[in-house]
Amino acid sequence: MDKIIVRGCGPLSGTIPISGAKNATLPALAATLLTDQSVHLSNIPHLLDVTTMLELLGQHGSAITVDERLGVEIDNHRINNFLAPYDLVCTMRASILVMGPLLARYGQADVSLPGGCAIGSRPVNLHIDGLRAMGAEISISEGYIHAHAKRLHGARIVMDPVTVTGTENLLMAATLAKGRTLLENAAKEPEVVDLANFLTKMGARIQGAGTSTIIVDGVDTLHGARHRIMPDRIETATFMVAAAVTYGDIVLTGTSAEFLAFPIQKLLEAGVEVEEDIGRESLRVRCAHQLRGVNLETSPYPGFPTDIQAQMLVLNSIAEGSSSVAETIFENRFMHVSELQRLGADIQVVGNVAHVRGMSKLRGAPVMATDLRASASLVLAGLAAEGETVISRIYHIDRGYERIEEKLLALGADIQRISG
Ligand code: EPU
Repeated sequence: MDKIIVRGCGPLSGTIPISGAKNATLPALAATLLTDQSVHLSNIPHLLDVTTMLELLGQHGSAITVDERLGVEIDNHRINNFLAPYDLVCTMRASILVMGPLLARYGQADVSLPGGCAIGSRPVNLHIDGLRAMGAEISISEGYIHAHAKRLHGARIVMDPVTVTGTENLLMAATLAKGRTLLENAAKEPEVVDLANFLTKMGARIQGAGTSTIIVDGVDTLHGARHRIMPDRIETATFMVAAAVTYGDIVLTGTSAEFLAFPIQKLLEAGVEVEEDIGRESLRVRCAHQLRGVNLETSPYPGFPTDIQAQMLVLNSIAEGSSSVAETIFENRFMHVSELQRLGADIQVVGNVAHVRGMSKLRGAPVMATDLRASASLVLAGLAAEGETVISRIYHIDRGYERIEEKLLALGADIQRISG
């Protein structure tokens, strides 16, 4: 299994490009199942999760052509298999996103239940309840969700708690349902809006994406379209924290501050400088003074993203002062804390709050990655630590960060991947 070795090496500097968003790409790929015409998506990140989704589409019968410019052409006029098998779903929970489109377009979907996850129990009851409200007959047996419907119909659906992929699944299903669907307490994440924009280009009739009520008027068919995936706001924020914790000065291109108001506010409070050049689609992030710890609480968009919580714990660990970080989305998303403690971080978790006493001198040690964002936090901690940090189970990071060690190398980091 690959490992990453990082050695603390002072300030990062230079310019790197930000990739397309993983969490916008996965639903967009699933949405291609809603039409039998050819669809082109660009700015697709080269990630393990994207490969898994393409493999799943391939099993359904999609013809996929990947071009050298991060584009993918998908032709779904020969879909003949409605099964999302356990071996793919267990490696990527977002596989559940094919359920809505398959059911809406072909009247059938058999999707493995995703099971537990390192960051929480993560049930999919709201996906199932929503599709049932739209007229689907759904049974669960032998670990699979079996869903059938002649044609879905519009419904009023309230999701509690707010769910990102749940909103996306039901949004996609509603585009081909008969009549009007109201999705209440819908997720407002920018990736939901990116999906709605893509679906609209395919001929869907959607209002209110980005607000808590999405209204969808179903149509009979959707057609082919071209769509460019939005930049990855979580990768952007991760590199912003990398600049901060190494007291560096870096420029991120192909991205913007638009969807990062909360994280940027917290970085400013911590003493980080952030400058946006909207014309050049770039952000300059630098930190020249001692960082200050910041209190934060994760919450659905537009609040502070849970996907940036682990990275901010690293920042708080080396910053001045005490701080607290509350996780309100997932019940078990502090697995990285015990690994950060191995590097010398002074963090105590009480309930869903991590209390940090800052100014820890981090020192390199062997650590283990437990999930995608935890892996990113360990790389950041390694960059800020003295000595060598060896991170095992690094495959988690390849699910969501494109060529992370190459990008960090380009910024002057001392980082290397070893196989075996
Ligand atoms: N929930 C339910 N029932 C459901 C669905 C969700 O109780 O049917 C609960 C979850 O257990 C959780 C909360 O609702 O406590 C929110 O979960 P949500 O469904 O919003 O999460 P998700 O859609 O499975 C997406 C991202 C995650 C990100 C979360 C929260 C994708 C592919 N994944 O997951 O991204 O953390 O939203 O913003 O979009 C990552 O990229 O590292 C990642 C984990």
